[in-house]
Amino acid sequence: MLLILIIFLIPAALFLHRRRRLPITNWPFFGMTPDVLLNSHRAHDLATQILKLTNGTFLLKGPWFANIDMLYTSDPANIHYMLSKNFQNYPKGPEFRNIFDILGDGIFNSDHELWEIHRKTIMSVLKHPEFPSLLETNIKKKVVFGLLPVLKSVSSNSQETDLQELFQRFTFDAICDLLLDYDPGSLSVELPFVPCEKAFTEAEEALFWRHFLPEQVWKLQKRFGMGKEKKLSEACMVFDEFIYKCFDIKDGQKEEEEKLGVLTSLMRGFEGQLGTSTDKRKFMKDTVLNLMIAGRDTTSTALSWFFYLLAQNPTAEKNIRDEIKKHLGGAKWESLSVKDLGKLVYLHGGICEALRLYPPVALEHKSPSAADVLPSGHVVDEHSRIILSFYTVGRMEGIWGEDCMEFKPERWFSQRGGIKHEPSYKFIAFHAGPRTCLGKEMGMIQMKMVATAIICHYHVELVEGHEVCASDSIILQMKYGLKVRLFPIDINQAS
Ligand code: HEM
Repeated sequence: MLLILIIFLIPAALFLHRRRRLPITNWPFFGMTPDVLLNSHRAHDLATQILKLTNGTFLLKGPWFANIDMLYTSDPANIHYMLSKNFQNYPKGPEFRNIFDILGDGIFNSDHELWEIHRKTIMSVLKHPEFPSLLETNIKKKVVFGLLPVLKSVSSNSQETDLQELFQRFTFDAICDLLLDYDPGSLSVELPFVPCEKAFTEAEEALFWRHFLPEQVWKLQKRFGMGKEKKLSEACMVFDEFIYKCFDIKDGQKEEEEKLGVLTSLMRGFEGQLGTSTDKRKFMKDTVLNLMIAGRDTTSTALSWFFYLLAQNPTAEKNIRDEIKKHLGGAKWESLSVKDLGKLVYLHGGICEALRLYPPVALEHKSPSAADVLPSGHVVDEHSRIILSFYTVGRMEGIWGEDCMEFKPERWFSQRGGIKHEPSYKFIAFHAGPRTCLGKEMGMIQMKMVATAIICHYHVELVEGHEVCASDSIILQMKYGLKVRLFPIDINQAS
């Protein structure tokens, strides 16, 4: 009797108890994978629900023998430890490189020495004294000749428009122009189909699925060109074709025609740092692809959630518009400089709230080089998989208070009326520690400029009945876009 109790009843009781306590079941053989697949449309919310019940850390069990168990954490102490204090022991690891193979030798995919070369070189370009004015010109040009004409066209007949799609086109054109000196013109009144612009979304969805499927399964799909893997392979071909074509155009330019742009500066920066065996053209293609992903999707996603939240908070919208109006002092939108944008405290708070509640990079990988114990007490084995849920960090009452689910730009006001700064392991949207986002300032400037241009000219209303939810992708885009109607206003007349 005792033996029966030990073999059957105790495990069954434990299984049922855990099942009742957590909204996910650890099934024999399949682990938690069935529940993850069934809840893929709300993967981040499910993780948040579980993390709230498990004090911020839990082990997601994959199928037996598949070796895809993952330790999920949103505990700021663990995050601070892995991203900063013990950074050396927590590279992204070979598993990340495997899943993100399409990123090649780019910065997102590299660790150790190669990462240092990338980081130093990209930073030297972004910190160049001429870069801020290059960036301001780049954004204003795209707003004036791309975004505003399209918004005028769709608002003139109260047409529904997908704001997320417009932002994606905006950031794609802007990053191409900045990096490659070539504006593909995807944001124009005709909204042309530009294959490379669309390929990013397809690729990011496929990469998300690779996290939850056993490696053998997605590798098999890749080999036989099936499902999302087929779309991913097609997307890669589109990226290669687009980027190499831009290189050819640049190579064809005579030296005197060639502007000292970002691409040339990057190429010069890498000179002498790469081994002789490196295929330089492929290396530059990987570098550009990584920067295009960094520049297109994060900013457009954050802007979409910002306008989604703003449309539901008319008081915040009014306060932001009043603040801009005060700074404009009767002048036109174009007169706002990057320096002026830094003074818009309400706008800054609104954007930070969107980034807190909907961080575009919602999760991050780590894999310890050596076994370790996290500050939460969890033991992690060498090369095990750890997922940092940035999405959950912004939604924990213990971190942001009881009103953590509310959109409150005022949260970001200091006592003296300026901007309040929060530690990066708490406000984690831009990552933390030595791998902190290199484009944080650039992204904030871009978002503030685009948001200001829209708020000065339009009131944005959500289309009733349109479902807004996160897509199953590595970037927290909106699955069905952001359908809105735009109503023209004149900021200097608005009361
Ligand atoms: C709202 C805007 C943005 C957000 C929320 C954001 C967020 C992030 C996050 C979370 C990471 C860490 C990713 C990882 O290691 O896996 C990262 C890294 C990075 N970001 Fe951004 N980013 C934004 C805009 C930009 C822009 C506009 C650029 C410029 C092209 C940029 C360039 C980079 C680069 C180069 C890295 C790699 C840093 C490293 O590994 O050392 N980001 N960003």
